[in-house]
Amino acid sequence: MRSISAGLIFPLLLSAQTAAPTFNRDIAPIVYKNCAECHRPGEAAPFSLLSYQDVAKKGKLIAAVTASKQMPPWKAEQVSIGYRDERRLKDSEIALIRTWVQGGMPEGDAKSKPEAPKFSSGWRLGEPDLIVEMPAAYHVPAEGADIYRNIAIPLGLAEDKWITAIDMRLTARQVVHHVLYFSDADGKAHSRPSDGPEPGYSGMGAGANASGLGGWALGAQPHFFPDGLAMPVSKGSDLIIQYHFHPDGKPEAEKSQIGLYFAKQAPDRRMTSIQLPPIYSLFSGLDIPAGQKDYVVRDSYVLPADVDGIGVGAHAHYIGKYMKLTATLPNGDKQTLLEIKDWDFAWQDRYFFQKPVSLPKGTRLDGEIHWDNSPENPRNPSSPPIRVTWGEQSKDEMGSVHLIAVPKDPAELKAIQADYLQHRNKMARERVMQDPSFLQKIRELQAK
Ligand code: HEC
Repeated sequence: MRSISAGLIFPLLLSAQTAAPTFNRDIAPIVYKNCAECHRPGEAAPFSLLSYQDVAKKGKLIAAVTASKQMPPWKAEQVSIGYRDERRLKDSEIALIRTWVQGGMPEGDAKSKPEAPKFSSGWRLGEPDLIVEMPAAYHVPAEGADIYRNIAIPLGLAEDKWITAIDMRLTARQVVHHVLYFSDADGKAHSRPSDGPEPGYSGMGAGANASGLGGWALGAQPHFFPDGLAMPVSKGSDLIIQYHFHPDGKPEAEKSQIGLYFAKQAPDRRMTSIQLPPIYSLFSGLDIPAGQKDYVVRDSYVLPADVDGIGVGAHAHYIGKYMKLTATLPNGDKQTLLEIKDWDFAWQDRYFFQKPVSLPKGTRLDGEIHWDNSPENPRNPSSPPIRVTWGEQSKDEMGSVHLIAVPKDPAELKAIQADYLQHRNKMARERVMQDPSFLQKIRELQAK
């Protein structure tokens, strides 16, 4: 009996052995494709993942952070519509990494190792139409809290332009966690006096007249907008770049170049952003008691015309926790456009749909933002927690989700924007009715 079973089991063991994953054949392709863009010298990730030694040294940690979906960083849950350039490992890939680590991390046959990925150091979308540079370097100290700094640069545009993409080249990439771009149509932001010896001005707000132009987050690849879409920037505008600097143990100097790509002609259709609640919940009476685990703000808006949904995004500060944006179509079908279960201020991406999502007139958008102001929230900047209200500093909060939409009929753009403005103004009026002192806050913000 014994010899029979041994005879049966032995070949099984043997075949399991030959199939055991190796770095060169199985793990390197996963890491090169999904990790190396950030985990390589000069990029913001704290260590490289290019060689067998690099990866084996961190093997256990890699198995843990891929299983928990902390890496690769991608905060949006999977939705049926699908996003472009989704950074997500397949379950089979996560399992393969686990098996490899449990199996002692064999390196395997050098012949089966794929070529290491090549990354270009030039402008990734080709030569930009306009390159501007920070007038002076910002010096990031070796240690200390994260820094939010707005730097304004006059663009010198003699005519209105349409931006199809923005890219940047950093001099101290290790300390730049992400940036947000804004335009300031007045062109006055660059003459605003700086607070402190370094260029620019502090805070998470770029200024009252700043309109968002997207941003760059760690590892994000620059893109041209799909379907000839572009963002307007008027002549005489300043570009404002809001930096999130994260000290890395050594003093660094950041003096970025920003490359702008312009459309040859004005696009046929224009994008508009529907933000719920408006102005990052300014009118939602945000008042989060110290210690409250789940504080929610909701807002709904019914589309007054047919649009194509192009993409979605979200914003909150540190104690934002959960966000969701759904669309309920007039026929009752409900679609999740965005769901973030574990908001992390450090990873604010915009998520573009693989294909435009058709949202007919009468579709109801429902947005919700949850905050966790409990001491158990590891991202809570206040210990013990404090009462938190709406504001632009990092200990204040704000939050919203938004849909980037393109009207099916370009002629309806103005009507959609006017209708959305009514929604916003109605909320503002209701807020002032509940709390007359709120008018003062609005005036102060407008004065900025
Ligand atoms: C978009 C950039 C990016 C990509 C892609 C990426 N990482 Fe990271 N990774 C980072 C950054 C930045 C950190 C530092 C921690 C942070 O800021 O979240 C990090 C941290 C880590 C850590 C340390 C975590 C800890 O808790 O100490 C591990 C391990 C890791 N990454 C593994 C991976 C693996 C494996 C992949 C691919 C499957 C990957 N990363 C893909 C940017 C990235």
